[in-house]
Amino acid sequence: MTTPLRLQPVIHNLSSENALFIVLGINSGETSLETIKDFCANFSALARSLNNRFPDGNFGAVLGFGSKAWDQLFPNQPKPKELSEFQEIKGEKHTAVSTEGDLFFHIRANKVAICYELASIINAKLKEATFCISETSGFRYFDGRAILGFVDGTENPEAVIAQGYAYVGSEDAEFTGGSYAFIQKYLHNMDKWAGLTTEQQEKVIGRRKFNDVELEDDVKPLNAHNVVSKAFDEDGNELKIVRGNMPFSNPAKGEYGTFFIGYARSFKTTRQMLEHMFLGSKEGYVDRLLDFSTPISGTLFFVPTYDFLDDLE
Ligand code: HEM
Repeated sequence: MTTPLRLQPVIHNLSSENALFIVLGINSGETSLETIKDFCANFSALARSLNNRFPDGNFGAVLGFGSKAWDQLFPNQPKPKELSEFQEIKGEKHTAVSTEGDLFFHIRANKVAICYELASIINAKLKEATFCISETSGFRYFDGRAILGFVDGTENPEAVIAQGYAYVGSEDAEFTGGSYAFIQKYLHNMDKWAGLTTEQQEKVIGRRKFNDVELEDDVKPLNAHNVVSKAFDEDGNELKIVRGNMPFSNPAKGEYGTFFIGYARSFKTTRQMLEHMFLGSKEGYVDRLLDFSTPISGTLFFVPTYDFLDDLE
């Protein structure tokens, strides 16, 4: 009997009440690399401990590596086929910027305290070896809405098929069970957004605001987000990724945003979605949502299996 792969929970507990998204850079020096490898080898045990301590906590945590970090940490090991630095996508009006990131943690739980618990352990273990690039606290907004007021995540693939869209298969045999995580932190221009009527906002997203029902084809514009962001294979079949976006906000500072995260079996699918949004769809339409949303980061990570991490010991 073959032992099943131990996968990181990239598609689980995405509807938790809270999340922390942490991006770290690696400090120079061999000691930093050794500290990080030791930590990674213990990561599945840390996650197991939190799951055992809080069985009803809707807890999940994922660890990913950027391309440069992979080369530094695992110089003598093979590399996931599609792991490279994200190349900026510059459209006529909007740009999907590329920003640095070596280690990425996506921590989910219903209680902020549980997210904090893991984040503080990570900090205690890695503070000498890394520096913080960004830390974002996401929260579930009512019935899973983006801060723009629309339900986000509806067209995510259902659990039974999500695995096939989120995890690498036999096409990269050494990394089967891993996943490509692409993150972008978006800031929204809320005054401009609030200046639209509900009907105009619905045409930007492509769905009804109150009940999340998709607009009829004859009403939905070709530049609506849910039209432009779709990806297809050569035969025209739709391709999917698994999105785990969360709103974040500091109202006193006037900061309103969406932390976009897409897990994919192949980064090509996510990239195609981004190219449609920023450069234009096959019909030539750029995503109208970008007139109200600006990405201030964009980084690709690879999330290997727990087996890969444990073997770093
Ligand atoms: C759909 C919000 C960025 C890919 C949606 C929906 C909302 C939404 C409200 C409709 C409900 C649903 O099906 O989930 C946002 C916000 C974003 C953002 C607020 C950031 C400002 C992105 C990015 C991608 C993406 C960067 C791809 C890389 C998709 C896809 C769908 C979707 C594939 C489903 C389309 C369909 O088949 O109906 N998004 N999104 N989104 N979004 Fe986004």
